[in-house]
Amino acid sequence: MKNSNQNDQMEKLVSMCKRRGFIFPSSEIYGGLNGFWDYGPLGVELKRNIKDVWWEDNVTARTDMVGLDTAIILNPRIWEASGHVSSFTDPMVDCKECRGRFRADEIDQTPCPKHKNRMVCACKDNLTPARQFNMMFKTHVGALEEASSVAYLRPETAQGIFANFANVLATSRMRLPFGIAQIGKAFRNEINPRNFTFRSREFEQMEIEYFVHPSQANEYYEYWRNRRYEWYVSLGLSRERIHLRQHEPEELAHYAAATSDIEYDFPFGRAELEGIANRTDFDLKQHMQHSGKDQTYFDDQQREKFIPYVIEPSAGVDRGALAFLCEAYHEEEVRGEKRVVLKFHPRIAPIKAAILPLVNRDGMPDRAMKIFDRIRRRYNAFYDDKGAIGRRYRRQDEAGTPFCFTVDGQTAEDGTVTVRERDSMAQQRISDEKVIDYLHDQLMID
Ligand code: GAP
Repeated sequence: MKNSNQNDQMEKLVSMCKRRGFIFPSSEIYGGLNGFWDYGPLGVELKRNIKDVWWEDNVTARTDMVGLDTAIILNPRIWEASGHVSSFTDPMVDCKECRGRFRADEIDQTPCPKHKNRMVCACKDNLTPARQFNMMFKTHVGALEEASSVAYLRPETAQGIFANFANVLATSRMRLPFGIAQIGKAFRNEINPRNFTFRSREFEQMEIEYFVHPSQANEYYEYWRNRRYEWYVSLGLSRERIHLRQHEPEELAHYAAATSDIEYDFPFGRAELEGIANRTDFDLKQHMQHSGKDQTYFDDQQREKFIPYVIEPSAGVDRGALAFLCEAYHEEEVRGEKRVVLKFHPRIAPIKAAILPLVNRDGMPDRAMKIFDRIRRRYNAFYDDKGAIGRRYRRQDEAGTPFCFTVDGQTAEDGTVTVRERDSMAQQRISDEKVIDYLHDQLMID
């Protein structure tokens, strides 16, 4: 069970996310909907930055990767072929006393809704036998709600990639080894959504299916697990809190020859951020069998025809955002006052720069507005001319803004502005002409 310090940390984060407009409970004015979340003005920028950086690093910057954006609702035969219709299930139990419904394999971590501070396992004499519950959301395509019109909201983006393997091969001239990347929504009717956005019913995934010759599968599995781990570190997650864990053979999904999870020490415990799996040729083979369409690859140099193996790094955008928020959140004491600061890596910070005229007179707002207009063509920026300057800095600290530019009396005299750096709070003066170059240098990250 979580200790009170861990609960406190999570409560502080959830309340800050709400107060500052990162994440709201979805449909809140109607009492919310369990397992669904809305991202506010700061949250949407954070999430977009994570996705953009992932895309830049994994697609744009590479010659062996192409992107894809497939439909959320696919032909339901895809989910038969992938095994989701028959086995994308979790074991579910009901408590006859509190009427709660729970995942049987997580019972010792699930709080009892009726008895505060008690886990559901304490009701174990009252639990029904476990039965399998399929987590795919069902819908109907077309006007008739009948068995033949059943379709599913995709529970992962991966299958849209596999189903387009032959299309991409035919149109993009990619040769093995190469990958197809996709970012998009996924839906799972989780029995117990919990830990804020960590386990939601609607979430986003960033997935790569990297196709290789079977003989190279181990090599690329190692490559991707290390590369993906280092990606999180490069964006600020500390090595002490992020871990690579290789699955034991009995833990492996039916399609995987090997899997590693990248786990993060959240305030509620260590949990999965991303999985990297060697899915072998399972998916392409299944789709070849079920669709009757050829999914083989012909290597014209080796004169060899085969079904490629697939290495799959599969990340959750929302879990990434939550980990970056947890890592960034700091409370510090500055001159006897508490400062809450989000030390986001500049690449993912929702607002890159704030422009603050010291006072609302002496031409300062005009000058500040001109700088603001120049910056916001390139970077997401914020203009604030209300309240004491110290309080405005604090607001930007809490939004995670790495740089504040202040226009003051000296600006009119010598054309310089003050730059304040978020983490050190150090200030220096630079020419207002150099603001864009300065930001460009500071935000350009390898
Ligand atoms: N295609 C493989 C696949 O979907 P997964 O481990 O089920 O594998 C991949 O999901 C990632 O998607 C997870 O590591 C996690 O980041 C995210 N994810 C899965 N279920 C989630 C949920 N209910 N809420 C939020 N994120 C989730």
